[in-house]
Amino acid sequence: MSNTSNQPDIPDIPDVQDVQDPQDPQDIQDIQDIQDPQDLQDPQDLQDPQDLQDIQDPQDPQDLQDPQDLQDLQDLQDPQDLQDLQDPQDLQDPQDTTMKLFNVYPLFDIQPVRGEGCYVYDEKGQAYLDLYGGHAVISIGHGHPHYVERVKAQLEALPFYSNSVQNPLQEALAEKLGQLSGCEDYQLFLCNSGAEANENALKLASFRNGRSKVIAFRQGFHGRTSAAVRVTDNPSIQAVINHGFEVLWYELNDTEAVLNRLAKGDVCALIIEGIQGIGGIYMPKVEFLRAIQKACVEQDTVLILDEVQSGYGRSGHFFAFQLAGIQPHLITVAKGMGNGFPIGGVLIHPEFEAKYGMLGSTFGGSHLACAAGLAVLEVIESEQLMKNAATIGGYLKAELAKMEQVREVRGEGLMLGAEFDFPVAALRKALLFEEHVFTGSASCPKTLRLLPPLSLSRQEADLFLEKLATVLSKMLKAQST
Ligand SMILES: Cc1ncc(COP(=O)(O)O)c(C=O)c1O
Repeated sequence: MSNTSNQPDIPDIPDVQDVQDPQDPQDIQDIQDIQDPQDLQDPQDLQDPQDLQDIQDPQDPQDLQDPQDLQDLQDLQDPQDLQDLQDPQDLQDPQDTTMKLFNVYPLFDIQPVRGEGCYVYDEKGQAYLDLYGGHAVISIGHGHPHYVERVKAQLEALPFYSNSVQNPLQEALAEKLGQLSGCEDYQLFLCNSGAEANENALKLASFRNGRSKVIAFRQGFHGRTSAAVRVTDNPSIQAVINHGFEVLWYELNDTEAVLNRLAKGDVCALIIEGIQGIGGIYMPKVEFLRAIQKACVEQDTVLILDEVQSGYGRSGHFFAFQLAGIQPHLITVAKGMGNGFPIGGVLIHPEFEAKYGMLGSTFGGSHLACAAGLAVLEVIESEQLMKNAATIGGYLKAELAKMEQVREVRGEGLMLGAEFDFPVAALRKALLFEEHVFTGSASCPKTLRLLPPLSLSRQEADLFLEKLATVLSKMLKAQST
């Protein structure tokens, strides 16, 4: 088992000879940091992290893509819908030689410039009620004053220094996260996004048991980078280079099939969303989660709970899997963790032992990211946002279920999917352009996905329901004429 492959950010060890001067406090610090003599002996450990960084492709499409946007593209098959999308290529003058964006996002012709609470405002001052939280990212609300103040203060003091120095903000963040989530005994590794969190979780799993087969689920989504996209059920976003290991696909909640496969004892990891998001808000059953956790422990298969979308209080619990009372080996987080500031993490069961250089990241856990992460947790706690998500989510769910055109409402807290008896693309468009409400889609075209800030009030929930009813009645009228 190697602990050195493919890791970008070992604290910079300039030269073995340089760490030998006991007079220099910095050198003493270096010696303290390098406690494992193995680390000094392996020439790979002495690589300048910068060299490894340089190999990374700055154009990585992961940075430019978001599943929801592509999903939106699939939904918008009606040419009328497509007219509402601004294609930057159409606007280009062939003589124009300025750099263009790599055109991977279909865009709504709306330009939010400011946000406050559950609203964003465009450049003309038009307010939009945000029932989508910018892909489930806005947890504590747009422009929360405590968040703004904490991030601003950190920006002025020190936004970044590398992971080779003491950063007490990381410990403070881990402590607060442990306290609020009830996962105090887990360890925290900080990174920058959901895909990166899953990437690191899969890598940790393989470090642990030396295996490579992974169980994943139909309709599951885990990100767009190499291993994360491999376990995502969407071949159209996988390139040949992503086909690096075998994935065993199962239907969500097919307990018998999954247990039979785990019993062979050769599976590295099982990765599952706390609540399937892009797949259409499908919940793993409590009994299913309990059965797979037991089998994973018995077979030394690492259970990875992807809480990137469903975590951070969205379900009304800190993590959606907590409904089942299980203890996964690894829990991945991002989205709501930073309320818009890019931050992700892996919560790692105490059984896993860290080794220098095993994982790493240049930006992960920066001072600024930690300040944003701490502000989010402080507001979740002080404003009791988990409780609010449970209460307002329960209310919305019940009210949506009463609507005539709604077949089913799935989900928990403020992660809801309302399935209609018709595809929702036109409904979403009318909500956005006529009623000024952002909502989300899912891979099932009849599902409207709702992921508002966790601070959504009862009045805002009622306003949304009113606007939805208005659009539905207009659509009904249009149909009957
Ligand atoms: C469940 C889940 N996992 C992982 C990801 C990937 O996160 P990111 O886009 O931050 O890489 C997403 C993004 O939508 C997600 O919903």
